[in-house]
Amino acid sequence: MPPEPLAVLRRVRPNDSEAILQAFTAPDMSRQGDAQDLGTAATYARRLSENPFAFGLTTDGTLRGVVALNVDHGNRLGWFWYWTHPSHRRRGLTKCAAGTVSNWALSAGGLERLELGHRANNPASGRIALAAGFI
Ligand SMILES: CC(C)(COP(=O)(O)OP(=O)(O)OC[C@H]1O[C@@H](n2cnc3c(N)ncnc32)[C@H](O)[C@@H]1OP(=O)(O)O)[C@@H](O)C(=O)NCCC(=O)NCCS
Repeated sequence: MPPEPLAVLRRVRPNDSEAILQAFTAPDMSRQGDAQDLGTAATYARRLSENPFAFGLTTDGTLRGVVALNVDHGNRLGWFWYWTHPSHRRRGLTKCAAGTVSNWALSAGGLERLELGHRANNPASGRIALAAGFI
């Protein structure tokens, strides 16, 4: 039997809202959108569930992070972003997921250009960008 994967990427689901709300209790999540209570987290989850370029990073089926693109379909352009719940950081999971999603976006996903920005005081985000092929 092959070993169980450490993590699995799947579409975000509306019922991921509680996991999203939990992740947003971390202070450094404040710039990642609005998920401050169950209502706003439900809206956040529903919007992502409707985005075919948004992937949930999961372990044991539970959403631990998101790697996603906001897509300008007319220009086949995607703005790339990601976050991971503090309990699952520093395991290389986000790096791995970002590389997988960027490769997919530029192949089967049909995009021709990906863009990303990270704050200079967020070196982890820069490491992930490099691992995903951004220069
Ligand atoms: C940025 C974030 C996604 C990193 O997630 P992570 O799961 O810890 O990242 P990984 O484990 O895949 O590690 C990526 C790299 O960053 C490094 N790293 C992780 N946390 C770090 C930290 N606090 N300081 C410095 N380096 C760090 C890792 O050692 C690894 O380095 P390597 O390339 O040399 O191996 C996570 O901290 C997060 O969700 N932050 C809040 C949201 C955010 O800032 N998103 C990015 C917006 S642009």
